[in-house]
Amino acid sequence: MRRKLVVGNWKMNGSLQDNEALLVAVADGIGAAAAAGKPACDVAVCAPFPYLAQVRDFQARRAAAALFDIGAQDVSQHENGAFTGDVSAAMLRDFGVRYAIVGHSERRQHQAESDVNVALKVKRALAAGITPIVCVGESLREREAGMTEFIVKRQLSAVIHLNGPCVSEIAVAYEPVWAIGTGQTAMPQQAQAVHAALRAQLGAAIDRADRVRILYGGSMNAANAAELLAQPDIDGGLIGGAALKAPDFLKIIAAAACPKAA
Ligand code: PGA
Repeated sequence: MRRKLVVGNWKMNGSLQDNEALLVAVADGIGAAAAAGKPACDVAVCAPFPYLAQVRDFQARRAAAALFDIGAQDVSQHENGAFTGDVSAAMLRDFGVRYAIVGHSERRQHQAESDVNVALKVKRALAAGITPIVCVGESLREREAGMTEFIVKRQLSAVIHLNGPCVSEIAVAYEPVWAIGTGQTAMPQQAQAVHAALRAQLGAAIDRADRVRILYGGSMNAANAAELLAQPDIDGGLIGGAALKAPDFLKIIAAAACPKAA
């Protein structure tokens, strides 16, 4: 059985003060659920680069905070050197980063990241012992043209091609672009169909595709999480807006820990 993983993607939001309040509320909520013997799942928060140290220091201060991992929102495709503004996988490792989102649609769109850039970033993350969360997803136009599977498989195949059997160490996030930040969520069955196709693609490339966690992202919230997370190939969520509100994020975590009961 794959253990579910809930990842908060803070995007370019937060401040020292707001982050502290959010971290306290999330850590308290996870700690209280654990103390009450409630089922658990893996949790991570992906903070903007300048705040990684804050999350790490918070973890050092608060034992309960060890119940979630630190994530980054990107990683450089280069190892080191003259790449102004880039942050390397080794630097992220220095700050205790366990996960890095790679190829988010906002980066593909605004920073013109290609499938090859994404595949290279995956390689760097894996080499540093960081689990890349590889985002794939189709636009509304692509979905309407019936190209969903073609698009997501093309995005994932670049990663498989460059990384070979190591892709058993990645996580994937299926994030339909039309669902991100729009309040429009994929129907659970719609998402499940894409997740199953991605798992089949991984299965053709590696032995243990059943171990790879495939998250859903795109307006997942406290109300719709349980139904999505009950799908057989949906192994967690990549959460944007709802990760900024502790009560909502905690409800999603509870739904992931026990999808059928939520
Ligand atoms: P959203 O964002 O939950 O606000 O739709 C998800 C994401 O972009 O990772």
